[in-house]
Amino acid sequence: MRRLHNGRVHELVRQVTKVGVASLVPELVLRLAPEPIAPWEATERKAGSIQGPPFWAHAWPGGLALARLVLDGPGLVKGKRVLDFASGCGVSAIAAVKAGASEVFATELDVFAIAAIEENAALNQVAVQVRSDDVIGRDEGWDTVLVGDVFYQAELSRQVMAWLQKLHARGAEVRIGDPGRSFLPMDLLECVATFAVVPVPAWDSVVDRPARVWRLRR
Ligand SMILES: C[S@@+](CC[C@H](N)C(=O)[O-])C[C@H]1O[C@@H](n2cnc3c(N)ncnc32)[C@H](O)[C@@H]1O
Repeated sequence: MRRLHNGRVHELVRQVTKVGVASLVPELVLRLAPEPIAPWEATERKAGSIQGPPFWAHAWPGGLALARLVLDGPGLVKGKRVLDFASGCGVSAIAAVKAGASEVFATELDVFAIAAIEENAALNQVAVQVRSDDVIGRDEGWDTVLVGDVFYQAELSRQVMAWLQKLHARGAEVRIGDPGRSFLPMDLLECVATFAVVPVPAWDSVVDRPARVWRLRR
């Protein structure tokens, strides 16, 4: 990828999105796009190379469910150090700050997602510590770990689940938001909450299921 100035990445995120409200969390404002193709083409033009889908321009059902969960039950994050792994547009991270977390770390590998999280945190006037390193396999003592909609690829899902099991075993509160995607290991999980998210078919083929929040079985 051509080296992009951070300001130009932010500029693109602002150009291809509109400030709006997503399903389930009307108290948050987010920069979102109605469909993925236009933002995807724009990132490839800007980067001068093939890019992954612009997952950051949509608030996914799993992230929305986690956001609603912490806003309705702040005890899970209040006064806690929270990790929002694979934060996308940052919706769960922003909700965790609003719900009283003492520190919230949002991780992403996509430079456009990092800019989107920063844009959305600023819009909602919250401080999120955005990180671009891959934390899979690490343990930095987070009290609560939020994981929204990442069980869409076999290898990623396997790695994430093995890591979450270790965090859970040492006492971290792990919550997974997911509508039941292909690689979600439901046999290792129990559902703790169900939310009816308004489907956005232009983004998501899973439109027939509610979003659920899961935790690891004891
Ligand atoms: C479907 S999106 C979900 C985003 C957000 N959690 C939500 O629910 O709206 C999945 C995200 O995972 C990110 N991702 C994949 N592997 C990652 C990793 N190892 N570390 C951080 N982010 C990762 C992708 O860049 C993508 O933005």
